[in-house]
Amino acid sequence: MSKPSHSYALAGRTVQRLGYGAMQLAGPGVFGPPKNRGEALAVLREAVASGVNHIDTSDFYGPHVTNQLIREAVHPYPDDLLIVTKVSARRGQDGSWIPAFSREELTEAIHENLRHLGLDVLDVVNLRSMFDIHGPKEGPLEAPLTVLADLQRQGLIRHIGLSNVTPSQIAEGRRICEIVCVQNHYNLIHRADDALIDAIARDGVPYVPYFPLGGFTPLQSSILSDVARRLAATPMQAALAWLLRRAPNILLIPGTSSVAHLRENMAAASLDLPDDAMAALDGIAAS
Ligand SMILES: NC(=O)c1ccc[n+]([C@@H]2O[C@H](COP(=O)([O-])OP(=O)(O)OC[C@H]3O[C@@H](n4cnc5c(N)ncnc54)[C@H](OP(=O)(O)O)[C@@H]3O)[C@@H](O)[C@H]2O)c1
Repeated sequence: MSKPSHSYALAGRTVQRLGYGAMQLAGPGVFGPPKNRGEALAVLREAVASGVNHIDTSDFYGPHVTNQLIREAVHPYPDDLLIVTKVSARRGQDGSWIPAFSREELTEAIHENLRHLGLDVLDVVNLRSMFDIHGPKEGPLEAPLTVLADLQRQGLIRHIGLSNVTPSQIAEGRRICEIVCVQNHYNLIHRADDALIDAIARDGVPYVPYFPLGGFTPLQSSILSDVARRLAATPMQAALAWLLRRAPNILLIPGTSSVAHLRENMAAASLDLPDDAMAALDGIAAS
């Protein structure tokens, strides 16, 4: 098989397939300030300096914390940097995640994202479904998507994507506006979206897995460790390289609050997985 490409089209731009997810920069429970503010800023600066031009964020991380860090670290933004944010939740005083789907809440969220990121227009806004916070669940998205489409017509949003959604919600979304990306939970072990990834690949739509390294429960597997050892790589690098080879439309946004981990993750872009390694890693979910 040919080597995976390093770039892919997202929202009319070309982005590196290895991007960066900013959620880990907020405090514990994605709430409050970072545990090490200097390191958080250094991670963002190094990500961009090393070629990342796709950053995933939300104003509900912190809340506001990751957007403010991105602005402080990287503004004025390089021309090729695509910042993807997401809306549909707000945070309670206790850090809880509260659905925020009304026209007023969505409109306020767009303005808050613009203000905290220091932008006049948001490149891509994902509507994150909240019918079940932990995974896709059927429910109508027409009303909130119509609000985002209105804000797009007003010039506040360039492109719209969906997160934590089912195939039928994506179909519903496409009847309302163009859906430029899908962001769902997916990794080497959690493969519920295998068919969806291949289906949207046929339309050239990027699939952006969240929790690519297992999120709050880092991936652990003896097969993954063995494969990584044989390739003189780390398990996390092998897990990212597997995603890059799994489908051409997969764009990665691994999260880290550590410069050392960022460097390790970036190096996964040049890790070639031979066919036998790919087959071994493919077998993990089945076992
Ligand atoms: N749409 C949604 O609903 C949704 C939900 C969750 C996340 N997201 C987005 O997806 C992005 C990725 O998800 P995520 O950050 O939650 O999970 P992830 O990328 O799967 O994993 C992040 C965890 O792995 C650790 N890690 C990262 N690189 C490592 C390495 N090289 N070696 C060892 N440990 C490493 C991080 O700890 P350290 O900080 O110590 O490196 C952190 O605990 C987020 O940043 C966010 O932008 C979206």
